[in-house]
Amino acid sequence: MPTGAAAPLLAVRDLSLSFATAGGSLPITRNVGFSIAPGERVGLVGESGCGKTVTGLSLLRLLPAHSAHVRGEIVFDGVDLLKLSPRRMRAVRGRDIAMIFQEPMSALDPVFTVGDQISEAYRVHFPVSRAEGRDRAIEALREVGIPAPERRCDEYPHQLSGGMRQRVMIAMALICKPKLLIADEPTTALDVTVQAQITDLLRSLSERTGTALIFITHDLGVVAETCTRMITMYAGEVVEDAPVDDVLTRPRHPYTSGLLRSLPGLSARRGVLSSIPGRVPSPNAMPAGCRFRARCAHAAAGCEREQAMVAVDAGHDARCWRATELALPGAVN
Ligand SMILES: Nc1ncnc2c1ncn2[C@@H]1O[C@H](COP(=O)(O)OP(=O)(O)OP(=O)(O)O)[C@@H](O)[C@H]1O
Ligand code: SF4
Ligand SMILES: [Mg+2]
Repeated sequence: MPTGAAAPLLAVRDLSLSFATAGGSLPITRNVGFSIAPGERVGLVGESGCGKTVTGLSLLRLLPAHSAHVRGEIVFDGVDLLKLSPRRMRAVRGRDIAMIFQEPMSALDPVFTVGDQISEAYRVHFPVSRAEGRDRAIEALREVGIPAPERRCDEYPHQLSGGMRQRVMIAMALICKPKLLIADEPTTALDVTVQAQITDLLRSLSERTGTALIFITHDLGVVAETCTRMITMYAGEVVEDAPVDDVLTRPRHPYTSGLLRSLPGLSARRGVLSSIPGRVPSPNAMPAGCRFRARCAHAAAGCEREQAMVAVDAGHDARCWRATELALPGAVN
């Protein structure tokens, strides 16, 4: 598992998730492992259903306790979050690790002003007066680039545009100055121009405050612009983990290469829009060995064996039997 120069802020080891269903236990993710250094910005990519969201929710222990069974280690700041009591976990959530989602409207309460909601996110963790909570909320709105924050503070969520609401969510997520922010497709519901503004905002806030970022997205272009490292998930497993510059030019897993070749910039240059044939196997029909095998143009005898992540270059790991011998196209050649 690659680590940055600093001691990791977060070290996830052998994280496996299954859901209890009427038909028995359904495995979803398997032996997920990665680490995040303080202040690092990491893109978590993969097609729909690969397990990105459930991995983010597992880190914060936000999955339904009655049906989700999570095993492994989630060591954050030296403490395994899976071993914390529910009360201590609530103290970590929002204060040390925050998460924002795709649809800000569903995360905001329509009957309270945005100022009250941001202030409350702070007052849950720090005992300050209402007046100080409000001052902090106004400051937080200013930080995320909302004009006239004193006035906006007293407005209700429905009075704001989608982009403004997502800025409010970011203000709420960052008001306690968490060490880690998990952003799950935070721009998908927004117009293209607003998407770019929110992505820029997340990057600049992370740079300024030192908050590490896990950016869950389908958009590898956003990862290239925002993050320093990229983790690819496929069918519930991490299949590649590498510095962005390295993986863009020289991906080592055929799946990452396929995702990169579907990037519009590259396709335009080559005059083709490549996409990966086939689809992600469903959790109840996972093939043995390499899970990408049925879709892989490079599959060979031996690929049906179980494959661990292996180091292929400095800070670059891949889960592919042929990782060192294949010369795979990236987005920048
Ligand atoms: N509560 C649940 N019970 C059973 N299966 C679930 C539950 N939540 C998610 N899953 C399954 O877990 C797998 C991973 O889902 P997840 O939402 O993490 O994918 P994702 O990578 O975030 O996809 P997308 O890009 O569409 O958001 C999917 O097969 C999904 O159907
Ligand atoms: S292990 Fe084999 S099937 Fe799997 S990605 Fe590598 S080459 Fe393709
Ligand atoms: Mg998701």
